[in-house]
Amino acid sequence: MNRNGITLVVGGTGKTGRRVVERLQRLGLPFRVGSRSGRPAFNWENRKTWSSALDGAARAYITYYPDVCVPGALETLRSFFTQAVSAGVKRLVFLSGRGESKAEQAEQALQASGADWTILRCSFFSQNFSENFFLDSILAGEVALPVAPVGEPFVDAEDIADVAVAALTQLGHSGQLYELTGPRALMFADAIAEIARVTGRDIRYISISPDEYRAALLQAQVPRDVIELVLYLFGTVLDGRNTSVTDGVRRSLGRAPRDFSEYVQHAAASGVWGVDHG
Ligand SMILES: NC(=O)c1ccc[n+]([C@@H]2O[C@H](COP(=O)([O-])OP(=O)(O)OC[C@H]3O[C@@H](n4cnc5c(N)ncnc54)[C@H](OP(=O)(O)O)[C@@H]3O)[C@@H](O)[C@H]2O)c1
Repeated sequence: MNRNGITLVVGGTGKTGRRVVERLQRLGLPFRVGSRSGRPAFNWENRKTWSSALDGAARAYITYYPDVCVPGALETLRSFFTQAVSAGVKRLVFLSGRGESKAEQAEQALQASGADWTILRCSFFSQNFSENFFLDSILAGEVALPVAPVGEPFVDAEDIADVAVAALTQLGHSGQLYELTGPRALMFADAIAEIARVTGRDIRYISISPDEYRAALLQAQVPRDVIELVLYLFGTVLDGRNTSVTDGVRRSLGRAPRDFSEYVQHAAASGVWGVDHG
């Protein structure tokens, strides 16, 4: 594959994007971060910023923020895919989510865009426990969520970045929809118990109702649209529909996905949960 030209990494400071950037740096390949803090700045909400981010890019990794299922995201993504193709960006690798109809509509928009596409349809990221979402409550020693007692095969953002970079830089990934999960499904209570065990910290998991969760987030002054988004996600993608484990990592990379335990060991060693076991 021709590796000439810049790779645009939209969301290049985020959970998967920054890992894609790290890999491109290690390969010595030129890249541009597409985000509000990038230079030039890129903002999903300001279309005037799109053309300078796309200018001269040969390929792009695209992560939408905050979530592909928020109102307006589908139309914004459709416009962005079209503009990227018109600007001559040949290869588009798109981060999508499992079991969500808006995400599937965004995938279809990508497939219809005329781009040389690859879709990474991912389960819930392991890094949500250490890089946002649940970090503060883990540090506080109590995670209370309105999640049904179903398993989720958390996927490691390191694996997603490996697949993204393979799709951006190697042959054989064009027109592929990879459903990416970890190798086993865990319930949230199991995941928290594992983090507690490895860090040696007392962290409780409590199952609460959606109304109790909404009230707690309102009290913590979380914006209402964020609260509704999180409740929607917990009520849909975490209702048991996404429990199955897939072979997407093996199909794309020829190796097994990282296990949640490996993620926990690594994150604990970084000290993010307050106890350094490195
Ligand atoms: N998290 C999961 O478990 C999960 C699972 C499956 C699919 N997904 C999908 O992954 C995508 C990313 O979610 P995430 O939670 O992992 O976020 P993330 O990639 O960690 O998001 C943060 C990134 O978005 C950028 N950003 C924020 N607001 C922006 C804006 N208005 N315009 C341009 N860039 C902006 C941030 O950089 P700046 O601050 O510099 O702008 C940063 O690079 C979503 O579409 C979601 O549907 C997530």
